[in-house]
Amino acid sequence: MADKTYTVRCARFDPERDKAPRYDAYQVPIQEGWSILNVLTYIFEELDPTIAFYGPCRIGKCVACHVKVDGKNRLACTELAPHRDFTLDPMTERAQIRDFVIDRSQVSDAVE
Ligand code: FES
Repeated sequence: MADKTYTVRCARFDPERDKAPRYDAYQVPIQEGWSILNVLTYIFEELDPTIAFYGPCRIGKCVACHVKVDGKNRLACTELAPHRDFTLDPMTERAQIRDFVIDRSQVSDAVE
């Protein structure tokens, strides 16, 4: 069975190049069991190699992959991707280095 394609809106911001944050929308064929990190990896590998995110351990241990999924803080590697359109934001815009990469020295590890 073919997977349905959903629109994933991703907050984009590179303080060295952009004057203001924006959203880019990507069409992603989300498969059963995909995590948010799988979605970001698909976008990076298939659609837009300029998107920046971080997910070194992929097993919920390092807590470096925090993102907001429709406004709620989640670990991208353990949160299942919803089968609907959704929006991803960085955990905090205050410490944003680029896109979903943040300066972890400026934030706590709280996940709702
Ligand atoms: S990649 Fe380490 S907790 Fe998500």
